[in-house]
Amino acid sequence: MSPRLIVVSNRVSVPKSKRPVPGGLAVGILAALQGSGGLWYGWNGRVESAVSVERSRLGPIEFVTRSLTPEAYEGYYLGYANRVLWPLFHLRLNLVEYQRRFFEAYLAMNVQMAEDVARLAAADDLIWVHDYHCIPLGRKLRKLGLANPLGFFLHIPFPPYDVFRAVPDHKTLLKYFFAYDLIGFQTRLDRDSFLDTVLRILPDVELGSDGLIYKDHEVKVGVFPIGIDYENIRRDVETAKRSTLIRRLQQNLAGRKLITGVDRLDYSKGLAQRFQAFDHFLERHLDHRENVVFMQVAQPSRSDVPEYQAIRDELDYLAGKINGRYAQFDRIPLRYLNRSFSRPTILGFLALSDIGLITPLRDGMNLVAKEFVAAQDPDDPGVLILSRLAGAAEQLKDALLVTPYNIDGVAEALDYALRMSRDERIERHRALDEQVRAYTVEDWARDFVAHLA
Ligand code: G6P
Repeated sequence: MSPRLIVVSNRVSVPKSKRPVPGGLAVGILAALQGSGGLWYGWNGRVESAVSVERSRLGPIEFVTRSLTPEAYEGYYLGYANRVLWPLFHLRLNLVEYQRRFFEAYLAMNVQMAEDVARLAAADDLIWVHDYHCIPLGRKLRKLGLANPLGFFLHIPFPPYDVFRAVPDHKTLLKYFFAYDLIGFQTRLDRDSFLDTVLRILPDVELGSDGLIYKDHEVKVGVFPIGIDYENIRRDVETAKRSTLIRRLQQNLAGRKLITGVDRLDYSKGLAQRFQAFDHFLERHLDHRENVVFMQVAQPSRSDVPEYQAIRDELDYLAGKINGRYAQFDRIPLRYLNRSFSRPTILGFLALSDIGLITPLRDGMNLVAKEFVAAQDPDDPGVLILSRLAGAAEQLKDALLVTPYNIDGVAEALDYALRMSRDERIERHRALDEQVRAYTVEDWARDFVAHLA
């Protein structure tokens, strides 16, 4: 029998029917665990003065979730994870709000999580830790005496040395990576930035054949681009297309072309630039004004972080400005949906779209880009416009790749996509679909776990 897999991440998403899943990490882990089975430990999203722990099971997955105290929520989650590491790793140094007490709360929470995991783990379990909230967790587990194989996967980008060193704790943070046996990144670029950063900051580390050697311990470092649950998505898309809601949208479009974006409401997603590009596109292309609708789903996220409140205000302003300028009594060009939808509904939206407009300023992978590809009808597919600064662009080279800061360029790409011949759409889609199908989320999980084992 293969060893049990324990997955640890800050957020755990226990699937409840139709509830939206927040972000690629939860989607990926859930799909991966459905294949292998195992235990998933982490936060249930609640904040309580007295921490409570819940256990549940769904098919082959056992969930152990806990709440956070108000202090941990503020210092560890809002503070260090989301006001220091998140902006830093997404190259937004100006948004980093460093406070030493945030780092202390981050370490304290990692100790607590390690204690919980140590209680749950048997000697031969494989332990797979996910994302920037939990970098020190491996070291804390080792301190508690665990000798299990320990893996770490970073879902978000790893920044270049010059950005990483701006955080005062850079050396300490970097050393924590060496408690793991295997470290995985989304792209070659992230892996290379990590290796370069380590070699510059930690002079005692040497480059090994598949990774790094530090004090006689070899840490393997690899690239594992997360994928999607391709077959299930295809199935869900077919069901979604027949749903009342999606039929209603189709009728309502009445032949107009649909441009769609789906993101968490996050400043890394480039939504303000995307709205400006759409504005620019409408201004320049009178011919398209009548026949396109841009629907942007922006699922509220981390709304207790001030920088997220600021981006929300900015988008409210821009959406009002665009619709104020171009709306007619019977048509609104920008449908800005500041709310979440169930996954089947999102897949239905993607399936109906003529253009997927996915233009983050920086993104670890971006699974929506892959889901858009999988949701298309191969005989009459839509066009993917993708930011070259998303991890997915390393694989999805046949998308229309754009620089999200280039407002003119994105507007031109929209025009080009709308005029693209069916043959070109089919050809591009075929190549993209091959990529998405070739390495699914099951492959990602199997591959990582095999390397770890
Ligand atoms: C990204 C991160 C995940 C995170 C998700 C949702 O995908 O990589 O670690 O869970 O965003 O963000 P939240 O702060 O709501 O967990």
